[in-house]
Amino acid sequence: MNYYDLILKKRDGLKMSRDEIEYVVKGISDGSMPDYQVAAWAMAVYFRGMDSEETTWLAVAMANSGEQMDLSAVKGITVDKHSTGGVGDKTTLVAIPIAAAAGVPVAKMSGRGLGHTGGTIDKFESIPGFQVERSYAEFIRQVNRVKAAVISQSGNLVPADKRLYALRDLTATVDSIPLIASSIMSKKLASGAAAIVLDVKVGQGAFMKDLPSARALAELMVAIGTGAGRKMVAVLTDMEQPLGNMVGNALEVREAMDTLRGQGPRDLKELSLHLAAEMILLGEKAGTFEAAMSQAVDMLSSGAAADKLRQMVAWQGGSWDEEKPAYGLPEADCKQEVYASESGFVQGIDAFAIGRAAMYLGAGRESLSDVIDHAVGVELLKKRGDRVDKGEPLAIMHYNRSERMNTARELITQAFQLGSSALPPIPLILDVIRGA
Ligand code: URA
Repeated sequence: MNYYDLILKKRDGLKMSRDEIEYVVKGISDGSMPDYQVAAWAMAVYFRGMDSEETTWLAVAMANSGEQMDLSAVKGITVDKHSTGGVGDKTTLVAIPIAAAAGVPVAKMSGRGLGHTGGTIDKFESIPGFQVERSYAEFIRQVNRVKAAVISQSGNLVPADKRLYALRDLTATVDSIPLIASSIMSKKLASGAAAIVLDVKVGQGAFMKDLPSARALAELMVAIGTGAGRKMVAVLTDMEQPLGNMVGNALEVREAMDTLRGQGPRDLKELSLHLAAEMILLGEKAGTFEAAMSQAVDMLSSGAAADKLRQMVAWQGGSWDEEKPAYGLPEADCKQEVYASESGFVQGIDAFAIGRAAMYLGAGRESLSDVIDHAVGVELLKKRGDRVDKGEPLAIMHYNRSERMNTARELITQAFQLGSSALPPIPLILDVIRGA
């Protein structure tokens, strides 16, 4: 076997064997396949695609390329939850405590944010003192005692994906459905959970801009997980506007806690309950989706889920004060409203532009080495369907440094699409794809 022949085979649209895919992945992780051949192979996959079997072999081989989390010491069926990346998406902070309160063990490894979407680890780190690095023993002990722990992804998890992703990023081969599916699923498989709930975002603020491509990605990821022996479900959800009202790390933690205390925005509550119910169902704490949803609603309304988040935060060293404004989380020094330049109904809010605005204010990273400001972000005062008068505030910028405020204001103003009538509502949950 040699790399040239394998690139040629994929370039000509032929199916690769499992051995051949494993050979390529080994070459990517041990460095014996040079950058130019990895990039050429990725481009061949971009144009020729891979079937579900090839994609599963690729995901499994990549998962095997580094460390794998052994969750066998956790009691019960471990369930993971993963979002393909959205703006204002803090559902992990709401859905995990709900599922954990219902008795589902959640041992989650998460990443940091890059670009216009935030990362769960950055959100948790906005809670003063919260530790995202835990020893293996501490992590397992917390999951067994509290039912939920969220830590940052280990440095040696899926090294093959790290190198391949970096090269895809430089060679215009990121947006290939089999490469995205195998990249995401390799990390999920290596993270060790027995069951995985995927939230596949659809819309301008997401990787997948339309429903058919999101469905293709979701079906492929469900097939990979099922093929690798995991229980799977994918929920396709709308990302044509940000989720909830807050975008930015500490702002999102606040909104998640508000939601667990019964005061959060309707869309965040609806999606978090749905994802938690899917976790409860896969974790076999309920026999039907309806029974799982009823448990999720009980956990939320009884306050058990809010207590669960308090417990998680305390176990991981975090401290906040629910008696204080903003729960004592970091707050920006300055706030400024962004006003509507005309009257009308909000017909859409470009989530990508709002995510970019939050990133410019310091809430996100343009490159991995950037240091983020946990306190800053964008607070939306209007959502799709709302009526707005000229001069009324649309959003509030929370910021500490003013040099990028004008760019952020422009992005926010342009993000709001105003029209003379309200458009019919778009459902938040667009489809659900269940594994066999
Ligand atoms: N997220 C990933 O982890 N990998 C991709 O390829 C795209 C999004």
